[in-house]
Amino acid sequence: MAKKEVILSGMQPTGKLHLGNYEGALKNWVRLQHEYDCFYCIVDWHSLTSDYEDTSDLQERIKEMTIDYLAAGLDPERCTIFVQSDVKEHAELHLLFSMIIPTPWLERVPSYKEKKEELGLDSYGFLGYPLLQAADILIYKANYVPVGKDQAPHVELTREVARRFNNLYAEVFPEPQELLTTFPVVPGVDGRKMSKSYNNDICLADSPELTASKLKKMFTDPQKLRKGDPGRPDICPVYDLVQIYNPDYEEVCRRCKTGELGCVEDKTNLAKFMNAALAPVREKRRELEAKPDYIEEVLKNGAGRARKRAAETMREVKEAMHLR
Ligand code: TRP
Repeated sequence: MAKKEVILSGMQPTGKLHLGNYEGALKNWVRLQHEYDCFYCIVDWHSLTSDYEDTSDLQERIKEMTIDYLAAGLDPERCTIFVQSDVKEHAELHLLFSMIIPTPWLERVPSYKEKKEELGLDSYGFLGYPLLQAADILIYKANYVPVGKDQAPHVELTREVARRFNNLYAEVFPEPQELLTTFPVVPGVDGRKMSKSYNNDICLADSPELTASKLKKMFTDPQKLRKGDPGRPDICPVYDLVQIYNPDYEEVCRRCKTGELGCVEDKTNLAKFMNAALAPVREKRRELEAKPDYIEEVLKNGAGRARKRAAETMREVKEAMHLR
C-alpha cells in the first residue's frame, strides 16, 4: 500500500470551541483523517506569543479543546492529536531555522505587522511565530496544511524555509501546500466574524437553552423591526446561520422577504435545527467530560506517536547539518 500523504494542522488552545471553529476547521479535519496521515497539534507555545501574562487556565483550555476535538469526531486511532510542548523537537527545529532565516523574511509576514500594531506585541518569540509554525509543519514532512485563507502567508513562508534548508544542506523537506476549503461564513451574534475574543460566539459546549438565548439576541436586518416588515436575508447575519442549519432556508428567505416571517419565529426555528445538529456532539462531550484520564491518555499517546516521527526528521536534519 502506498504511504499516505501527511497533513498537519494546529489551533491555539483557546478553550471551548465555537461554531466557527467547528464549521470552518474541525469538520474538515474529521473528513481528512480518513484519507491522510493526520497530525493535529494544540499549539500551546504559539499561544504564549500573545497570551503570556495569564497562563493560569492553560491546562484547562487544552483539556476543553481536546474534548471538543473528540466530541466532533476526531478519532485518536485514525489521527494523531497532541500538544506542541510535549514534542520538544519542534523547539529544536525552530531554533535551527532561526539561524538560517533572515529577519526581514519574518518582518514582512502580514500577520506580524497587523498584530504588532493591533495588540502592541513586540517580543522576540512573536516575530518568530511563523517560523515556529514552519517547524510544526516541516518536522512531520507534511504535504498539506488545512487552514483558513489568513494562514496562507505562513504556509508560503514554510515553503521558503524548506527550500532554503534543502538548498543549504540536503533535500530533507517536502514543500507543503495549503489546503483551502470553502467554508460557510459563520457570523457571531453581533454580525461580526464569530470569535472568542469578540465575545459573540456560540460554543459546542453551550446548552440548548443558552444557544437559543444567544440566538434570540442576535443582530438582524436593522430595517426589519417587526413581523410584517419585509426583511433582507442577504444582509442578515442570522440568515448565514439559517443557510447552514435550517434545511428550509429557501422558504425562510422567501417568507422573510415578504414579511410573513418574523425574526423571533425565524430564530426559534433556527435554534431548534442548530440544537438538533449539535446534539450528538454535545452528548459525546458530556461523556468525555466524565473521563479526564482518557483525555490525558489520548494526548499522551498522541505525543508519543508525534515524537517518534519528529525524532526521525531531526536525525536527518542533524545529519544534513553535521550536528551531533
Ligand atoms: N497560526 C495558526 C493559527 O493561528 C496556528 C498554527 C500553529 C498552525 N502552527 C500551525 C496551523 C501549523 C497550521 C499548521 O490558526
